Amino acid sequence: MRGNLGRALSASIGKKAWMAISGLLLVGFLCAHLAGNLLLFIDQDGSAFNAYAEALSSNPLLPAAELVLATLFIAHIALGLKVSSQNRDARKVRYRVSANHGGRTPGSATMLVTGVLILVFLVIHLLDFRLDDSTHGDMAAAVRKRLGSGSGAWTYGIGIAALGLHLSHAFASAFQTLGLNHPKYDNAIQLAGKGIGVVLGLGFLAFPVILYFSSGAA
Ligand code: HEM
Repeated sequence: MRGNLGRALSASIGKKAWMAISGLLLVGFLCAHLAGNLLLFIDQDGSAFNAYAEALSSNPLLPAAELVLATLFIAHIALGLKVSSQNRDARKVRYRVSANHGGRTPGSATMLVTGVLILVFLVIHLLDFRLDDSTHGDMAAAVRKRLGSGSGAWTYGIGIAALGLHLSHAFASAFQTLGLNHPKYDNAIQLAGKGIGVVLGLGFLAFPVILYFSSGAA
């Protein structure tokens, strides 16, 4: 019995550790993606951004990098759904013993909702720019047109707000799961986690906001 519990616990901790590792690697991708996207604001004609998009799409390593990225996203989402359903099952058992203990924190509750919103956003985003051949050639113009429209600005605004909220909870939790926390530094880690979520969230949010208000659609 004890052995089963031990196995179940370590399996669940293993899943959370992989979630934390895949999540931190995805944040690495987001930092690079945001830095590349900022090229859109460098010039008016979009040549810097288009040169960057062209260099990316003609890089022979791109298919391998995309495979790694897709694996990270799929693993992170699948593990997230599994862990949250296990947590739900565990709560049902606990509630039978005591209705008042072990409730969900607001943080963990929004992680699932924001995670699903990010997934919906990601599908729309890939359909917009990765899987639509008609954008090739002038990616900068395609981005400006899509995010400059009312529906595009709202879609990207909501998706990115969910991302910012997700990240602001994710860091402290990832560090805790990986055992990289210490009572002395807990507050600093919490603050740094929220800070990175806010910087990435506001950084990405700048695109729909600036492109919408400079498009003349506002
Ligand atoms: C609002 C700011 C954003 C802009 C302007 C933007 C722009 C783009 C563009 C133009 C591409 C296509 C690149 C190409 O094929 O040459 C792309 C791909 C991608 N974007 Fe974004 N993006 C933004 C935010 C995000 C966010 C918040 C996420 C994640 C949640 C994300 C995830 C991705 C992924 C996974 C790809 C596919 C990468 C690949 O297959 O190489 N993007 N983005």
